[in-house]
Amino acid sequence: MVYPIVKYGDPVLEREADDVTEFDTPELHQLLSDMFESMYAAKGVGLAAPQIGIGRKIAVIDVSNNANPEDKLVLINPRILQVEGRQDGEEGCLSVPGFREQVRRGRRVTIRAQDVKGEFFEKTGEDLLARAFLHETEHLLGRLYITHLSALKRDLMRRKIKKLQRAGEWG
Ligand code: NI
Repeated sequence: MVYPIVKYGDPVLEREADDVTEFDTPELHQLLSDMFESMYAAKGVGLAAPQIGIGRKIAVIDVSNNANPEDKLVLINPRILQVEGRQDGEEGCLSVPGFREQVRRGRRVTIRAQDVKGEFFEKTGEDLLARAFLHETEHLLGRLYITHLSALKRDLMRRKIKKLQRAGEWG
């Protein structure tokens, strides 16, 4: 099923999610399938469980947007191991719709995570995938990308969002 995406302002997005301790359950398989479906429906390249209201350390990524099955990635309990280089580029978030901002990130990022069976793996990504690793891992720690913006930019954004909330145009 496609879940509605939780928007900025919901506390579930700003607290650390719980570690996953049970693997390979029918419930976990179903959740992952629903997360991919919800991400594709929202046209995102990454989705963290708190974004559908579930405070568990699970994220899905597909930088090919469902074009290449090999790009489908499941990250459970991910940790950033190494960040190298840097890239400047626009970043957005399904939970902060309508906004995209320049964010400086590492260009090459190695993570360690568990798969659906609980097996640990390491993976290195570059460019967009590196950005997605950082963005999604931060979601699971309760950190949104807008915390990387200048205080001025963030305040401007918050004001715009408050206006949308008052107008009933923010979920
Ligand atoms: Ni996001």
